[in-house]
Amino acid sequence: MSWERSEFGERLCGASGIGELMEDLGMAIAAGGEKVRMLGGGQPAHIPEVDAVWRRRILEISRRPGELERMLGDYEGPAGNRGFRIALAGLFRREFGWDVGPENIAVTAGGQTAFFFLLNALAGRFADGRRKKVLLPIVPEYIGYADQSVGGEIFEGTRPRIERTGRHEFKYRVDFEKLGIGEEVAALCVSRPTNPTGNVLTDGEVARLAELASGSGVPLIIDNAYGAPFPNVIFTEVTPVWNENIILTLSLSKLGLPGTRTGIVVAREEVARSVAAMTSIVGLSNTNCGQVIVTPLLESGEILRLSNEVVQPFYRDKRRRALELVRESFDDAMNYRIHRSEGALFLWIWFEDLPVTSRRLYERLKARNVLVVPGHYFFYGLDDTPWPHRDQCLRVSYSMPEEVVRDGLRVIAEEAAMAYHEG
Ligand SMILES: Cc1ncc(COP(=O)(O)O)c(C=O)c1O
Repeated sequence: MSWERSEFGERLCGASGIGELMEDLGMAIAAGGEKVRMLGGGQPAHIPEVDAVWRRRILEISRRPGELERMLGDYEGPAGNRGFRIALAGLFRREFGWDVGPENIAVTAGGQTAFFFLLNALAGRFADGRRKKVLLPIVPEYIGYADQSVGGEIFEGTRPRIERTGRHEFKYRVDFEKLGIGEEVAALCVSRPTNPTGNVLTDGEVARLAELASGSGVPLIIDNAYGAPFPNVIFTEVTPVWNENIILTLSLSKLGLPGTRTGIVVAREEVARSVAAMTSIVGLSNTNCGQVIVTPLLESGEILRLSNEVVQPFYRDKRRRALELVRESFDDAMNYRIHRSEGALFLWIWFEDLPVTSRRLYERLKARNVLVVPGHYFFYGLDDTPWPHRDQCLRVSYSMPEEVVRDGLRVIAEEAAMAYHEG
């Protein structure tokens, strides 16, 4: 932009990790997937049985008198469609016994937008000059939060404990000894399952975080973009939680509807109202299509069958194959570890003592038409204490067709081996 930019403009108009990632994704999709092995973005797979449900719903909507016209031609209220919110609250009550109603739910244009609203409403600069931050109990954390502040740094990250759980496996755990909730903390925030690592915080970790947060009078934000009850891309037995001190976000994207941009915030009533207020200021109205497509599935419970019997087994199988392909293409003698894969669509690969940075490895892979996400983007809000681990990880998506994942992993194995060799 040729004109002078405000602080907001400085922060949001330029380059960012998430911007680079989405550009890579758009470029790979535009290229038709022929040449580029796209293991970078969070694009969910096209699962034929799921796509068939969307096709069926669009036909049903277009046959029912007035429904298509209402979906396309009406402004939706800023909190979201009331029928959708009633159906969703009913599902939460039936499935989990949560005491929620439609007044606890606000719909946004994707989970990403929900975070833009929540993070900036809770943290940043206050009228009396104080600054508050969002505490991330485990960093690395989702790249999409990193650049969302409209003014100043709003994150305080905490390094996890690293447990080496197998010859080529590791797992991050919340380091409660390091986790201090000072006056400047406005909220705690975790994605569960975690993007980028595939980690799923245990019930014990979540209970302790919730207790710490409510003890300090701040909310715990849980980003459930991959969690239960939908899309349920989660491979461990954990209990979803919600109470008045928890702000839970969900999304229809990983169920297979990213194009509809439908995010959901479940929170105490005043928070849901605030989110609706921000939607009307920033976006006027809500996104209708995802809500209209999905409402009958919430009412009938079909969304649970799809999530539990189609989406979850699909990704479970993709993960199993991806791990097999890693074992086939990576030299056993190489110093690599994969984070224990408990959910989401990614393998998080740690190349310990890698002589080049993950950024450099990303560039070398890109030159060979393999797109991944370099891990350093996910390490933010940390102090300057040196931590080589931040430059040694890659996020690799396994949602693409098997031949793409196989080819991509083979090239990653070759380039990493060369990097170790040259180092
Ligand atoms: C952890 C996490 N949260 C939120 C989002 C935002 O998704 P959307 O805006 O498509 O709902 C994503 C997308 O990849 C994600 O991985």
